[in-house]
Amino acid sequence: MSSDTLSIIQPDDWHLHLRDGDALATTVAHSARVFARAIVMPNLKPPVMTVADACAYRDRIVEAIPAACNFQPLMTLYLTDKLSVDEVQRAHASEFVHAIKYYPAGATTNSENGVTNIESVYPALERMAELGVPLLIHGESTDPEIDIFDREKVFIDSVLAPLLGRFPALRVVFEHITTRDAAQFVEQQQASVAATITPHHLLYNRNDLFVGGIRPHFYCLPILKRNLHQQALIEAAISGNPKFFLGTDSAPHSKVSKENACGCAGIYSAPVALELYAEIFDQWDALDKLEGFASLFGADFYQLPRNTRRVHLTRRKSNVAAHFKLGNELVVPIRANETVAWSVHEESQ
Ligand code: NCD
Ligand code: ZN
Repeated sequence: MSSDTLSIIQPDDWHLHLRDGDALATTVAHSARVFARAIVMPNLKPPVMTVADACAYRDRIVEAIPAACNFQPLMTLYLTDKLSVDEVQRAHASEFVHAIKYYPAGATTNSENGVTNIESVYPALERMAELGVPLLIHGESTDPEIDIFDREKVFIDSVLAPLLGRFPALRVVFEHITTRDAAQFVEQQQASVAATITPHHLLYNRNDLFVGGIRPHFYCLPILKRNLHQQALIEAAISGNPKFFLGTDSAPHSKVSKENACGCAGIYSAPVALELYAEIFDQWDALDKLEGFASLFGADFYQLPRNTRRVHLTRRKSNVAAHFKLGNELVVPIRANETVAWSVHEESQ
């Protein structure tokens, strides 16, 4: 394998927002282009709260998969104060639901139905711990008094550490970690606690929000942090530690809702996600660590078989479109009108 080409086992995306309806034609095609499977986030309006909702949503996604792709959506339920122990049991028994997502109420896009009081979900969490159903956590304090750049750290101290103390057997993915504190915390836990890392938190820091003016397309939650945190995330991603794996948090919003006086949080990375991860691993001379991070560690954590097909990458620039159709609207991807340094291609090239 020369350093200009790379062949890895087909990756999976362990944190993805596909949305619903007309948007699926675009979002599903972009992810299915390179990823074999994806953990599909449940923050629709209304949220995916039951196994029946998840199965119906899965059917709509499956209908949108392009004929040539072998994509498998892995469904999640949205944890609310009302999630019953029986529903946890049904999720565990269902072959399609793989995890339950915890959004603190008000933390991010469509999270108004999230958990208001963690104690109200203790019975559900206890059953999840017994059955081994992973809890996926959006780890930010929702206290408006806390500085937005400190919300992840405060969440670790005030919610996550006590939660793991109370439910030591609970399998947890700390989603889209953004700080050195989170990376260190995850490293120190047992193997049942892992984390996803997005391409944008590896590639950018909070300066990128304000280059020459305010940049709504870099606004996501958790918000980009200062560069020392970016550096700690890069070290975690390229470390070869199986606790850290790929989750894009690709989160499309229409161009008008981003370029707005009150712009939505979310970065749309699915069209170039694998290329961006290759770019960053290459930049840090760690291409040999990409396969573990992108294709092996997540499957192992979720106790699913590793993929068998391979994907091929070349160090060759490709252009990124200015926008894509998203239903009746447009969505602006990360790196719009710019290039990415790597391209995915068929084996024969
Ligand atoms: C996500 C979205 O738009 O659904 N937004 C984001 O900024 N990441 C929600 C989320 O994962 O927090
Ligand atoms: Zn997300």
